Amino acid sequence: MNEIGRTRERLKRLEEEARAELCAAQGETHLQAVRAKYIGRKGLLTNFLREIRNLPAEERPALGQLANQLKTALEEAAEQALTEERERQKAKQLLREGVDISLPGRKPSLGKAHLITQVTQEIVAIFERLGFEVSEGPEVELDYYNFEALNFPQDHPARDMQDTFYFSPNVVLRTHTSPVQVRTMEKRKPPLRVIAPGRVYRHDSDPTHSPMFHQVEGFVVDHGVTFADLKGTLTFFVHQLFGPGVKMRFRPSFFPFTEPSAEVDIQCVICQGQGCPVCKKSGWLEILGSGMIDPEVFRFVGYDAEEFTGFAFGLGVERIAMLQVRLNDIRLFYENNLQFLKQF
Ligand code: PHE
Repeated sequence: MNEIGRTRERLKRLEEEARAELCAAQGETHLQAVRAKYIGRKGLLTNFLREIRNLPAEERPALGQLANQLKTALEEAAEQALTEERERQKAKQLLREGVDISLPGRKPSLGKAHLITQVTQEIVAIFERLGFEVSEGPEVELDYYNFEALNFPQDHPARDMQDTFYFSPNVVLRTHTSPVQVRTMEKRKPPLRVIAPGRVYRHDSDPTHSPMFHQVEGFVVDHGVTFADLKGTLTFFVHQLFGPGVKMRFRPSFFPFTEPSAEVDIQCVICQGQGCPVCKKSGWLEILGSGMIDPEVFRFVGYDAEEFTGFAFGLGVERIAMLQVRLNDIRLFYENNLQFLKQF
């Protein structure tokens, strides 16, 4: 075999050895060492390339090309072996730690107020602009504040077990926010302009009734308050909440604690007054109860009904929210389905 043949043989062996050692190497340090041994600055193949200049001129190009190709091939093989080794290490580390700290984090989603809270705040804000102050009362209430002082006769149907949750004959879950009127007047003298949001409870459950729901109570007591003040205030409120174009009407009604009493209807927002299932073909939707505070209530809290007059109103938050976002099932508010709640 001539010189060039032997050199080719040598290169071939070098390649086989290098590949075998790369295959057998354990761990990254070992792999780096094998790589250095063959293609590092003082590596076997590098040395060989340096020695080429001592070979006869006519053999240099062919051998040089061969050695360079081999160097590239070994570099690729070493790189691949290192990549595989690093992946193996990474997988082992993951198994050990159980947590991949290199994974991008999950963005926490921002919470926001429940639709009922949003609508309550919107209603309260409208009255705050009119100078009303916010007040609250207990949800577990005495029969006295929930009924007696609000002039409910002893045998009034609203006291019936059908509607009221009783703790004992004298203690109930309040069925409306009106007891806040009595509690406030008992403690303070007029002038009063109060708005009182809160939860109320009634023994009732179907698509439009929930055993717990929310009301907002409002009342004004001062010298010379008239039914015109009631109408003006509630008209302003309805126009703020549903838009200035919405038609409304005051319809005579009855509550034991107001006289005269009126319920406020707005034109059906679903059918624009044409008549549909939501407004039961009437074209109108009832949204609140109101009236001039009955002198009998003033007597209970020690106000002089000759000196002071006042008006009061109460509205259901769920009902207003349902009209605003066009819902037909009140239970959706309480099922805590985030897909649903996130829409608002
Ligand atoms: N409390 C009454 C109800 O729950 C509403 C109301 C409040 C009516 C104030 C008149 C005055 O139905």
